[in-house]
This record gives sequence, structure tokens and C-alpha cells, in this order.
Amino acid sequence: MKVLLTGASGAVGHGLLRYAPPQMRFAAIGRDFERIHPDLRGRVEFFFKGDLVRDGAGLSERDRASLRDFKPQKIFHAAGCVKFDQKDADEIRVTNFEGTIRMIDLARDLGAPEFHFISTAYAPLGRNPYEASKLAAEQALRASGFACSIYRLGIVVGDSREQRIDGFNGYYGFLKLFDALARSLVGHVRFGNKDGGVRLPVHVPCSEDSTLNLVPMDWLCRTFYGLQEEAVENEMFHLTHPAPRLAIEVMRHSLETLRVRGVRHETQILKTDASDPELRRIQKILDAGLRRFAPYLREEPSFDISNVRKKLGDRFQPPPEMGDALLTKLLAFASSKNFGRRSIPPTFSTPPDPHSLSR
Ligand SMILES: NC(=O)c1ccc[n+]([C@@H]2O[C@H](COP(=O)([O-])OP(=O)(O)OC[C@H]3O[C@@H](n4cnc5c(N)ncnc54)[C@H](OP(=O)(O)O)[C@@H]3O)[C@@H](O)[C@H]2O)c1
Repeated sequence: MKVLLTGASGAVGHGLLRYAPPQMRFAAIGRDFERIHPDLRGRVEFFFKGDLVRDGAGLSERDRASLRDFKPQKIFHAAGCVKFDQKDADEIRVTNFEGTIRMIDLARDLGAPEFHFISTAYAPLGRNPYEASKLAAEQALRASGFACSIYRLGIVVGDSREQRIDGFNGYYGFLKLFDALARSLVGHVRFGNKDGGVRLPVHVPCSEDSTLNLVPMDWLCRTFYGLQEEAVENEMFHLTHPAPRLAIEVMRHSLETLRVRGVRHETQILKTDASDPELRRIQKILDAGLRRFAPYLREEPSFDISNVRKKLGDRFQPPPEMGDALLTKLLAFASSKNFGRRSIPPTFSTPPDPHSLSR
């Protein structure tokens, strides 16, 4: 089976390469081969430099001809811009919506019979430019008449056994800011704790009854590979957890694991009630950094995975429970990789400048 993959250098793309059946052969389009983990580069037989935001996906005529020779039978389109903010709306739309149209055009040009599109479970909610762009891309794909499957993913976390992940968006993106704050304030006379943690009487947006749909990478990829083997019938599959935990439980345990204590969970973004400038400054950093994640902690619909179960039949296996022990191990892995940051956040004797934490 020959596959043309986009997004090979991303968190999901690495998972798709890692869990691919050994006989599957990959060509990949991407901006930089070096961004694929050295352990997985060998899985990519042909790498073509391209960019989804450019005409013709930025491919040279020569590369396009080589791709025609390769004759992929399936497209796995996993590249995307996973920014959420309004200020990035143009980049998000051009990458996710227009980029998908470019990939559909390319698939047609190559005569690839199937198109498998990695989308998000939150696409239909349209709460930010990211969700809107993914829904628009799904609609464009359906309208194209291509034989396609759309996979709407929950929030992807690392492998359930090894915790490995090659990118720290989503769940990790939210906690990365707390991790940076905690590290930077660890010795702080007021906020630092003797056990190496911090006590921050701040608040974050999180509802009492909403769930957070985390799915481990190994389950996600195995389920994906099971589904893509079946006949393509223009279906949409939720690759989501059938029993997601409450967001508030996940957050409480995750913050405790990072030794960040004293955080209150509010259902709305409240005006900071901190009367002192230091605390106000920390709350401001959090409000700015967490605003983009607030919708995911406040409301979540339930996702129907009945067609996944039906399609896989006896081969369907539910994902592991996202229990506290697994969350602890996932965060230990993220911490060991410094949440993907190149440098350790600096330690401050006063609350840090927000810009120093966002790098
Ligand atoms: N992670 C999640 O929790 C999650 C949940 C639901 C859905 N998804 C979907 O899964 C897909 C992958 O997400 P991810 O978490 O793996 O994100 P990621 O780690 O940020 O990876 C994004 C991938 O897309 C590539 N890409 C971005 N812009 C590109 C462009 N202009 N041209 C070519 N390639 C481009 C990146 O290449 P570079 O290395 O060159 O930047 C990278 O390989 C996305 O479509 C996202 O919507 C992810």
C-alpha cells in the first residue's frame, strides 16, 4: 500500500508513522525533512519539499512528476495549523482550508483513489478560526466528490504505554504555561513551596460538569489504521474517548502533578480579585495564555463513535481509561522533554514578564 502523507513532522504525523503497518510505503510532503524524528525518517521513502499555503502545495514540476510515478493509493492529510487565535485567522484558514483544497487538487492530479482527512471533533462548534477552518475543509472535501473518510480527533495525548509524543499542543499547551510559571516561581518567597512546587491563588476557566476528551496516540493510530483498511464510504468517524473524564478532575490532577496548588476553577473568566500587583500580574499572564483554551474547558458535546465500533466489529478496542496514574505519567514525559521548549524557563524573584514564558 502506497500512501502520500502530509504533516509527518507533527505530533499526529509522527504517531501515524510510528504505528503504520510495516508493509505500508510512505511519500511525504512537508516543509522540512529534518523535523521528522530521526527514528522515523526511515519510514519515509520519498520526501518532497512543499508548503500548503503556496500554489500547487509548493511542489516543483519535477517533484510532482516523481509523485505521479510513486502513484499513491491513499492520501493521509494530517498537516494543519493548530493555532486558535483570531490574530492568526489568515494563516489558519490558508493552511487548513485552502491547504486542504490544494491537497484535493493534487490527489486528483495524481489519480489517488482515496483521501483520508485528519480533522477535529470540535470542528462543527466553530468557536474559533481553527475549528471554522477545519469544518470548511471537511465541507470542501465532501463537495469534491472524492472518495474520502474524515477522522474527527479528540485531544491527542501521548502513547498510553510509553507516554511518547512528538509535539506539545492542546492538553499540553494549556499545562505548559503552568509548568513555566511553576518553574519560574519555585524559589519565590511568597509563591514558592518548600517541596519545589508553587501555591498560586489564581483562577482558571473550567466548568464543573463539562468533559475533556483526551485520547492516547497509540489507540488513535491503531483505530485509524483499522478504519482506513475498510472500504471508503464518505463517512465521518469520531476518534474520541467514549468515556471522557470531567475537565475539572483532569485539571485538578494535572496541576497537582505539576505541583501547582491553590488554583481555583471558575466557570467564567472572572476579573481578577487579587488586590495586590504581584498576583494581578500572574493572573494577567494566565488570562492571556489560557483564553484560547477556555472553550475546551467549559463545554463539550458527547461524540458518537457507533460507526467506528460498527466498522471495526470485533476488532474494535476501546481506549484505556484516562486515569490519574496515566495522566501523571504523560506529564512526567512532557516535563522530561521540557514541554517541547528549547530552554528551561528562567527563575524569577518577582513574577515574570509574560513574554519570557511564551518562548
Ligand atoms: N494534536 C491534537 O490534539 C489534535 C486534535 C484534533 C485534531 N488534530 C489535527 O491533527 C493534525 C495534526 O495536528 P498536530 O497536533 O500533529 O499538529 P503539529 O504538531 O503542530 O503538526 C502540524 C503538522 O502540519 C505541518 N504543517 C503546518 N503548516 C504547514 C504548511 N503550510 N505546509 C506543510 N505542512 C504544514 C507541520 O509541518 P512543520 O513541521 O513544517 O511545521 C506539521 O507537520 C491537524 O490537522 C489538527 O487539526 C490534532
